[in-house]
Amino acid sequence: MNQKYAQLTGWGYYVPEKVLTNADLEKMVDTSDEWILQRTGIKERRLRTEHDTNTSMSVAAAQKALDVAGLTPKDLDFIICCTTTPDYLLPAAGSLVQGALGAECGAMQLSTACSGWVYGAVMADSLIRSGMYDTILVVGAEIISHGIDYTDRTTCVLFGDAAAATIFQASDKPSGIMASELGSDGAKAKSLWVPGGGTTKPISQQVVDERSHYIMMDGQEVFKFAARVVGESLQRVVKKAGLTMDDIDLFIPHQANARIIESAARMMGLPLEKFFINIHKYGNTSAASVPLALVEAIEEGRIQDGDTIAVAAFGGGLSWGSAVIQMGVKEKTAMYQMAAASAD
Ligand code: UT7
Repeated sequence: MNQKYAQLTGWGYYVPEKVLTNADLEKMVDTSDEWILQRTGIKERRLRTEHDTNTSMSVAAAQKALDVAGLTPKDLDFIICCTTTPDYLLPAAGSLVQGALGAECGAMQLSTACSGWVYGAVMADSLIRSGMYDTILVVGAEIISHGIDYTDRTTCVLFGDAAAATIFQASDKPSGIMASELGSDGAKAKSLWVPGGGTTKPISQQVVDERSHYIMMDGQEVFKFAARVVGESLQRVVKKAGLTMDDIDLFIPHQANARIIESAARMMGLPLEKFFINIHKYGNTSAASVPLALVEAIEEGRIQDGDTIAVAAFGGGLSWGSAVIQMGVKEKTAMYQMAAASAD
């Protein structure tokens, strides 16, 4: 059997209309535009309206991705919906999106917090490389505002709602994910978690009163973890792909804090211009963050067909994931030639 690759052929995003600015937050909690901008790089974020559900946002993004790929929902062989904020605990987000799209295929929900889409993309890549499926939709979507305590200034300024979708399709030309790394450090699980509302501490008046059904975070602990893991993981994954930093046209990091991205760039000895940043517009959109940045980078012309990019995400778990992605199949790239040579 010929070696198969999973080419990224479709992309699209959806963000709710409602904008929550730093000035709005100044009226809600003891914070300031200056603090938020300096400490995080965020100017505004989007919040779901009454029309937006996790499913409707995922479907809107997926339809754009299908259009870009020139496909219909019936062409899909599998759907992976990456989210920690599904519409319901049961059924899973994947089935709801499959049903709403009118696709005729298996579907699942993948929950790895902000690392979700990178995990989903790596799963899609392996399902295609194994020969099991040819066409897979991977969505990252969050109504993260649902889990935010808007009286807690340490978390409520950071997050926003969004959805972004990607299509991976089988190709015999080297393309798509060429190297990846998925990681987890469960010992630090409680530095970013929702203590109440699960099966250990089911929802109750006490849970609501103590507000433990909201996201709780040790910001500094997560910051230290992220500042280290983004740079280290990107260095490892680029090396694993047989490349050097110079071969990467653009880095797409998780948009959690501009200072984390700056610190990773410094650690890797790279100029900040090599990193795509859109956190000022959307804040941290969790599983939607990396694909949303990826789609915007493509739409803004920062990524061209044939470019080699690297993505990195981190978040609850604590978890992380990174990948080198060959966009398109421009035959002259070093990545193409290396992969073609090893396939011979
Ligand atoms: O997807 C992964 C999700 N999470 C992350 O990536 C989070 C990573 N961590 C961070 O991004 C940063 O740690 C934060 C942005 C959360 C906080 O920034 P920081 O520079 O680490 O601030 P800090 O926690 O050290 O707090 C400094 C001060 C404190 O006041 P005191 O104790 O010095 O008087 C905080 O109470 O800033 C205060 N503070 C705020 N002040 C105004 C915390 N949040 C706010 C706020 N507005 N929103």
